[in-house]
Amino acid sequence: MAISTFFIPAVNKIGMGCLNEAVELVKTYGYKQALIVTDHVLNEIGVVGKVQRLLTDVGIKSAVYDGTNPNPTTINVEQGLAILRQHDCDFVISLGGGSPHDCAKGIALVAANGGDIRDYEGVDRSAKPQLPLIAINTTAGTASEMTRFCIITDIDRHIKMAIVDKNVTPILSVNDPALMIGMPKGLTAATGMDALTHAIEAYVSIAANPITDACALKAVTMISRYLRRAVKDGSDVEARENMAYAQFLAGMAFNNASLGYVHAMAHQLGGFYDLPHGVCNAVLLPHVQRFNAKAAASRLKDIAAAMGANVANVDDQEGAEVCIQEISRLAKDVNIPAGLAELNVKAEDIPTLSANALKDACGFTNPIQASHEEIVAIFEEAM
Ligand SMILES: NC(=O)c1ccc[n+]([C@@H]2O[C@H](COP(=O)([O-])OP(=O)(O)OC[C@H]3O[C@@H](n4cnc5c(N)ncnc54)[C@H](O)[C@@H]3O)[C@@H](O)[C@H]2O)c1
Ligand SMILES: [Fe+2]
Repeated sequence: MAISTFFIPAVNKIGMGCLNEAVELVKTYGYKQALIVTDHVLNEIGVVGKVQRLLTDVGIKSAVYDGTNPNPTTINVEQGLAILRQHDCDFVISLGGGSPHDCAKGIALVAANGGDIRDYEGVDRSAKPQLPLIAINTTAGTASEMTRFCIITDIDRHIKMAIVDKNVTPILSVNDPALMIGMPKGLTAATGMDALTHAIEAYVSIAANPITDACALKAVTMISRYLRRAVKDGSDVEARENMAYAQFLAGMAFNNASLGYVHAMAHQLGGFYDLPHGVCNAVLLPHVQRFNAKAAASRLKDIAAAMGANVANVDDQEGAEVCIQEISRLAKDVNIPAGLAELNVKAEDIPTLSANALKDACGFTNPIQASHEEIVAIFEEAM
């Protein structure tokens, strides 16, 4: 077996009401002035004000950058950095879903290392740890609150840069399901399918190991059981709690086993058309796994079993097909669009999207490497 390295934040709080305990813990860290990186919606619905009040109660001052776009950009990172410098912040708090976390990582990394966020595209390009980052999560989820991945759209090139760097790992992650209750149905579905994609891509990855396998399969089982319920009734606390744990487990899996072509291809759709990340993944997931079945059928059969299907008496290829059908059934049940055409993806863009997908670091651990023609064919099937 190859040597594996396991990355995870030093402290991780999960559970109903854990935000209060988390802020008490932050008090003991001794920081004075936070930059809260978030977005307009979370500011408008009062979540930012709530966190600011909790911080004030423990004697911590805070400035807010709430301009993060749903696919955070190089400009967002520059704007947040300016506010951080203006207020002389000694740590960063990200508050929101994957977008604020990734934006905050970009800001905290450049604050400590200098230069431009584009300098850090790729794997472990920075020299120093970022400014301390505490990530308070409100979706379930990208798991960005606990990963070493930072995905920023370069607005000049219209591509999502994958910055995979141990130095962007937050020091504390917070998953309080109370903050997730308010997620609308579409966001619950998209972020839940993103988590399912993380678990599946990590399980079939060439960098999978026994630890990531255990995390991935447990995540798949929990998402299969609880995502429909969380979408149907957002105030179902049991479903929200289970989804918070499941997305974290999926994060533990992919943070260490990495991902595959679903993410490599979804990043291009997100960068080019500014589409929601989870929806792009959900549409591409069955099509990429059908391509992967050539090399990873027995692994896909395990996933079918984890999703609750009875595959005891079928061979690996049939088991893989059951897995693909189970994924499609779940996506349909939570109202994911049937194809990329519904998302206004244009056939004439596919060759460019495919060429860029092959450069994305997430694809390097896919179970088989694809040619440009093969990626084009997967995009076309997904239309
Ligand atoms: N770094 C990683 O490890 C990693 C992994 C996967 C995806 N991502 C990135 O994460 C981003 C997507 O993040 P996301 O899917 O969590 O969504 P998001 O952060 O883009 O948020 C989408 C919208 O939902 C709103 N929202 C968030 N939480 C809410 C809540 N509790 N109630 C009501 N509204 C809420 C936000 O205000 C925003 O308008 C993409 O840019 C993707 O590339 C990063
Ligand atoms: Fe993702």
